[in-house]
Amino acid sequence: MELKRKIALITGATSGIGASFAEKLASQNYDLIITGRRKDKITNFACELTTKYNVNVEVLLIELTKKEDLDLLLQKVDATKNLEILINNAGYGTRCKFVEEKPEIYEEMFILHDYAAIKLMQIALKNMLNNNNGKIINVSSVGAFLIMPTKSAYNPAKAYLISLSEIIAEEIKDSNVCIQVLCPGMTRSDVWARVGEDINDVAARLKWPHKLMPAEFVVDKSLSSLGKNKVICIPGFNNKFLALFAILKKCFSMLFG
Ligand SMILES: NC(=O)c1ccc[n+]([C@@H]2O[C@H](COP(=O)([O-])OP(=O)(O)OC[C@H]3O[C@@H](n4cnc5c(N)ncnc54)[C@H](OP(=O)(O)O)[C@@H]3O)[C@@H](O)[C@H]2O)c1
Repeated sequence: MELKRKIALITGATSGIGASFAEKLASQNYDLIITGRRKDKITNFACELTTKYNVNVEVLLIELTKKEDLDLLLQKVDATKNLEILINNAGYGTRCKFVEEKPEIYEEMFILHDYAAIKLMQIALKNMLNNNNGKIINVSSVGAFLIMPTKSAYNPAKAYLISLSEIIAEEIKDSNVCIQVLCPGMTRSDVWARVGEDINDVAARLKWPHKLMPAEFVVDKSLSSLGKNKVICIPGFNNKFLALFAILKKCFSMLFG
């Protein structure tokens, strides 16, 4: 009898954190369904993974803010009854003052980071709970804890994912399905080139406690703490410090303000 292969679906696996998840899970013998928009880059990457790890990699070209594309992906998730891992990773940040930002950017940030994740999770979770087996990772950001001017569209969208993941974790705690919300700090990825920044210049400008981390480090921390009754994963001491400092500052102001 042929054993069922393990399957993981990763959104936004063309580069950076998503590509790193794909590589790590392929090395652990998972078949992959990966999504992205840069056709040549993601197709070449999928071929490399297939050759290197002898796994099946299916590429779906998906713009998550387009209803038809999202519907296509939802159908795929619904049909993949034995999906073991779902990683809602696709995303990017924006930087603009609130009064100057276009209102549609808020809608786009919510659809990309939150609404797409909600829809994908609702379908995947039903199957995972039926199988009593599965893992979900929602990629948020350490920025979700911080008060950062010019980040009024991105940070709240990422903060929503933390609250949502914590509530789902509570609802599924008696099952063998787990959920993690991953909150990376600044990470080496294509996100910097997209906004015209040289990654080495970015790294050189950073002051403690900010530090640019390799995507592989973020992914290793995420996968090694997955399922350990720990919903929030913040990779790296520097990032933990940033989040904790922001929380303590708020508590202090609530108690004594
Ligand atoms: N890098 C950081 O410092 C950092 C820090 C905290 C959190 N994060 C989060 O980590 C996640 C991964 O980002 P990354 O840094 O690894 O960036 P990246 O290398 O630019 O990868 C982003 C991925 O998301 C996909 N994507 C972006 N917008 C999309 C859309 N509208 N529809 C469909 N796919 C879309 C991209 O597809 P294509 O490239 O094919 O267009 C790409 O595959 C994001 O959610 C980001 O917010 C990043």
